[in-house]
Amino acid sequence: MPLSRRLTLTQYLIEQRRRFPGASGDLNALILDVSIACKAIARAVAFGELAESTAGNAGGGVNVQGEVQKKLDVVSNEMFIATAEWSGHLAGMASEEMDQPYQIPRPFPRGKYLLVFDPLDGSSNLDVNVSVGSIFSILRAPDDAVESGRDLTEADFLQPGSTQVAAGYALYGPATMLVMSVGDGVVGFTLDLNLGEFKLTHPHITVPADTQEFAINGSNSRFWEPPIKRYVDECLAGKTGPRGKDFNTRWIASMVAEAHRILMRGGVFMYPRDTKDPARHGRLRLLYEANPIGFLMEQAGGRASTGRQPVLGVKPSELHQRIGLVFGSRNEVERIERYHREPATRDSGNPLFSERSLFRD
Ligand code: AHG
Ligand code: MN
Ligand code: MN
Repeated sequence: MPLSRRLTLTQYLIEQRRRFPGASGDLNALILDVSIACKAIARAVAFGELAESTAGNAGGGVNVQGEVQKKLDVVSNEMFIATAEWSGHLAGMASEEMDQPYQIPRPFPRGKYLLVFDPLDGSSNLDVNVSVGSIFSILRAPDDAVESGRDLTEADFLQPGSTQVAAGYALYGPATMLVMSVGDGVVGFTLDLNLGEFKLTHPHITVPADTQEFAINGSNSRFWEPPIKRYVDECLAGKTGPRGKDFNTRWIASMVAEAHRILMRGGVFMYPRDTKDPARHGRLRLLYEANPIGFLMEQAGGRASTGRQPVLGVKPSELHQRIGLVFGSRNEVERIERYHREPATRDSGNPLFSERSLFRD
């Protein structure tokens, strides 16, 4: 299709809204605000070390999760707030970089949606100029909060991922992309730098059901639970192992970039629950990492799971809750779930315990 005939994000959203004649347009406007924040972040990220005001760590700051904050983590968070708070479409926001929910300041009207986001995912990769991204999830605010306009509490955000109205991410790679779903499949837009507009380049993103590629941080292998050890072990055994085929591995350490690769060509990503730190049940955060990416995977025909249950069915207990996460090609994710259900014993013939196992105990 010639470039000029591609829909812009605005046109795509208008077209979607025509399917729902009663829709107010608030969701469209909110998504457009998010896209503007993402364009601003894309510009800020692209300056790299040249941008003295945004390069490096934020004055010794750590976020609520005890992680070192980059200046760009903080700046990106501010960009989301500044573009989304004034519009009247939001009842409140929550983000990785804010301990508590963000209340929409009083001069601005309050609306019916909640915006939950990871303003910059994979930010440790900024030092090495590797792709990073922003992740967002849109939920409905509880009715009483919308009617009364009251301040929001943490509990208002603790909704399972299956209730998301829309979710997506921006990827700041060689090209900037916006990939999202409003619950009707997954679409991808590429930022046209000449126009400063996102153009629809990927109208029907689907995840192949099978794959020969998996992504996991192998340095944690000694902390993995048996089902994950078994799965990885079987993949690594290749053609002559139980899977009868060779697998590739990938690890970018930007989940958003891994999710994008999987949406483009399949694969499976694992950051499973492990025994590294008994105080936490996984590395990634449920509300602004696992749920939005899980929503996209399911909408694209893939699958997202904790290993034990579909991630979108988990009832959150905390705003910054961490969770084990496995997502990607459906047949592989289902296999990993099956391994979680099957007891692994030394007598079961499980290759985890075989002499040739690379990850044997
Ligand atoms: P964030 O930069 O928002 O804190 O998230 C980083 C996450 C995720 O993107 C990535 O998959 C993972 O951390 C990388 O973990 P390791 O450092 O264990 O590789
Ligand atoms: Mn992140
Ligand atoms: Mn982040």
